[in-house]
Amino acid sequence: MPFTVKEISPAGGAEIIGLDCGAPTGEADMSALKQAFSDWPVLCIRSQKLTATQLAAFSRQWGGLERQDRSAYCHPDDPDVLVLSNERRADGSQVGIVDAGDFWHSDSSHMTDPSRMTMLYSVKNPTRGGDTHFLNQYQVYAALPDALKNRIAGRKAIHHVAKTLNPRVAVSTEREGAAEYYKSREKAVKPVAQPMVRTHPETGRQALYISPRFTIAIEDMNDAEAQPLLDELFRHMFSRADWQYTHKWKDGDLVFWDNACLNHMAGGGYTWPDTRRMHRTTVVGDRPFYRAA
Ligand SMILES: [Fe+2]
Repeated sequence: MPFTVKEISPAGGAEIIGLDCGAPTGEADMSALKQAFSDWPVLCIRSQKLTATQLAAFSRQWGGLERQDRSAYCHPDDPDVLVLSNERRADGSQVGIVDAGDFWHSDSSHMTDPSRMTMLYSVKNPTRGGDTHFLNQYQVYAALPDALKNRIAGRKAIHHVAKTLNPRVAVSTEREGAAEYYKSREKAVKPVAQPMVRTHPETGRQALYISPRFTIAIEDMNDAEAQPLLDELFRHMFSRADWQYTHKWKDGDLVFWDNACLNHMAGGGYTWPDTRRMHRTTVVGDRPFYRAA
């Protein structure tokens, strides 16, 4: 194995040292990487020099890539690479998505088959801010009182992409047309029911699979009961700092994470012309399920 794995956070973060993601990864190395990814759901590989094409090639070794639905922000060299950035062109138009991930979430949980994993490559960091926070939902679930575990076992929660349907979040004023965009999604996109406890498809471990960003209700439960229950679960989620890992980016960092057992959030805290530019890919996932332990 040409690389070593070093834990960087008890919340499930590790650094891979000695791997060049710009070169093809052999079968034995991929197998070792996948084992590390099962053990540490946030992996960081520093000091990479990746073109969009190389990032996409490395990502495809983990599975098929999702086609990004916002083509205006796709990288010209590969349509599966999305640009997240606060940069503006000379004409004032935006180069990438500005407010991506500004509330705690698991990527695309509002879709029937959410992204299995997400890869983020840091091209340019701002002089301050821009951290990414991760929350280990295995640990969150394990520490839930049994009474709460029993209340949510086998239940499904409703996830929706429209921020305008969710009083727990706000629409960024920094992104042009964002309010109109989310308003248009309210009826155009169907809500999706996801298991509140998600059994990991590979490790078999249980994770709490809800988020303030996408979870707006509980299936077959009226709001008078469901909203206080969601509030209680969210309070529990954010009650311990040691369930979280904050990644402080350096240029050239590649970080990828497991959406089946983590929530994450972009910390923000920077403003144009202090520039942040990231390239993102997402690996296709399966339908989440719950299997009683
Ligand atoms: Fe995200």
